[in-house]
Formats: sequence, C-alpha cells, structure tokens
Amino acid sequence: MKLKFITVCVIALAMTSCGEEKAKKEAPAPQKEESKVAVENVDPMSNKGIGPISSVTLGEIDPAMAAEGEVVFKAKCTACHKLSKKFVGPALKGVTQRRSPEWIMNMAMNPEEMIQKDPIAQKLLVEANGAPMANQNITEVEARALLEYFRTKN
Ligand code: HEC
Repeated sequence: MKLKFITVCVIALAMTSCGEEKAKKEAPAPQKEESKVAVENVDPMSNKGIGPISSVTLGEIDPAMAAEGEVVFKAKCTACHKLSKKFVGPALKGVTQRRSPEWIMNMAMNPEEMIQKDPIAQKLLVEANGAPMANQNITEVEARALLEYFRTKN
C-alpha cells in the first residue's frame, strides 16, 4: 500500500517536471516568430508613433502654415536633414507618404522616446549608424507647421 503510494508520487512528479521542461523549451520560439512578423507586416502609415500627438486631421494644404514650417525646418532641422539627399538623417522629401502625420509630429517633438521604443525609428537609427536625432524643443504648433511644409514636398 505504502509502496503503491510512493510509486504514484514518483510518477506524478516525473510527469510534472517533464511537462515544465517541455513548456520551457517550446515557449520562446513561436513568440519570436510573432514579433518578427508584427514589425515586418504592419503598415507604417498605421503607426502613430509615441508622444503627445494622438490624432491629426488634415485638410487642404495651408500655404501660410507650410511657409512657417519651412522657416522652422531651415532653423532647426537642416543641420541634419536635406530634402532630396540622405545627410545625418534620412532625406525628408516624400516623408508624408511613408509615415503617418501623427508619427512625423511625434518624431519632431519626442525623438528620444521614439528611437528608444518605436520600431520604425529604431530601424532608422540603425540605418543612420547609431546617430540619434536630437530634441530641438519643437512645440506642437511648430511640429504641425513642419508637417504642412513636408506635405508640399512629395
Ligand atoms: C542631430 C541631427 C538631427 C536633427 C537636428 C534633426 N534630425 Fe530628424 N533625424 C535624424 C536622424 C539621425 C534620424 C534617423 C533616426 C535616428 O537615427 O535617430 C532622423 C529621423 C527623422 C525623421 C524620420 C524620417 C523617415 O524617413 O521616416 C523625421 C520625420 C525627422 N527626423 C524630422 C526632423 C525634423 C522635423 C527636425 C527639425 C525639428 C529634425 N528631424 C532634426 C537626425 C536629426
């Protein structure tokens, strides 16, 4: 009777630890696959980035706002960006066709957190050989004007 009990215990123990081992071995692989797929298959235009801007509604291009954006761009961005050529950072011509309006404004206002956490910004950081975009203390009004300027450069 006692022996039978011990045998049952031993079998039960062996089964649990075996089950655990299996779970440990198998769990990480599918997770990795999923995260890889997530980054590669997500439409970049659906990524709003990380920062203060959660929603932007675009209308017709506002030329006065775009002109203000050009002034900000020349003062605070051209140290690293050109429109048609890669410089320290990527060429920004056509940027509104590959990034959402919210993502562009969040990148302008909140670059540190973006390059730490946003998958697209992280990839761009690697492509820029690890040169991080600097925070230029851009206000929301300036970021919106910059976006309007980029809309005229497609
Ligand atoms: C110190 C250099 C530097 C300055 C100044 C700078 N950037 Fe950048 N920017 C970069 C780099 C480098 C990247 C690529 C990501 C990275 O490495 O951090 C980038 C990426 C970007 C992107 C993403 C481009 C893409 O292809 O998706 C946008 C948009 C952008 N910057 C806008 C701006 C704006 C607007 C300003 C001015 C307010 C600005 N940047 C100022 C260096 C800079």
